[in-house]
Amino acid sequence: MGEHSIGQALAFLDWSTGKLSGAAVHESTKTLGDLRGIFSSERDWAKMDPTGVVYHVQWVTPPGADTEGGLLWGNTTIEPGTVGDEYFMTHGHFHLKPDRTEFYATTSGSGLLLLMDSARHTQIQEMSPGSLHHIGPGLAHRVINTGAEKLKILACWPSDAGHDYGTIAQQGFSVRVLRGSGSPRIV
Ligand code: F6R
Ligand code: ZN
Repeated sequence: MGEHSIGQALAFLDWSTGKLSGAAVHESTKTLGDLRGIFSSERDWAKMDPTGVVYHVQWVTPPGADTEGGLLWGNTTIEPGTVGDEYFMTHGHFHLKPDRTEFYATTSGSGLLLLMDSARHTQIQEMSPGSLHHIGPGLAHRVINTGAEKLKILACWPSDAGHDYGTIAQQGFSVRVLRGSGSPRIV
């Protein structure tokens, strides 16, 4: 029999929610205050509690995550809600290395994924439990919760992808998603 060793799992994942637990898990929370300038109505944003949570992110950094070929795994939970008529959403970003792609998958809730190229052409994909989304090279990505419950997604991406938040902070996406009568309005 060959030599072998038995080690511990990196973390544990609750598949019904995507929630991660274990020592290797990192977390970050984005509040309304953190998302200044992201929503179209500064006036409505200013009226809301800046400590209100918009989304929460968890991720695991495996050993070797700092080398080319490393992968990260995480989840994002976006609360239901709006700023004025605009649904709660993630900041959104391009990857600093444009050829670094990513998978998103929906565990619960419903929403929209915006994918925008450098020419500002935007593609919109519907997110619902089980939907698997591939974010191709050079595409900025943002998730929008258009439902009444939390929108929970899983993500897997190359650890050296890097995040360019500045371009979106300055120029935004070419479309916004607002609450309409019945279904979301894309403007
Ligand atoms: C990583 C990735 C996700 C997001 C997360 C929060 O490349 O796309 O893990 O980081 O959904 O969104 P942002 O980073 O846009 O605030
Ligand atoms: Zn990303």
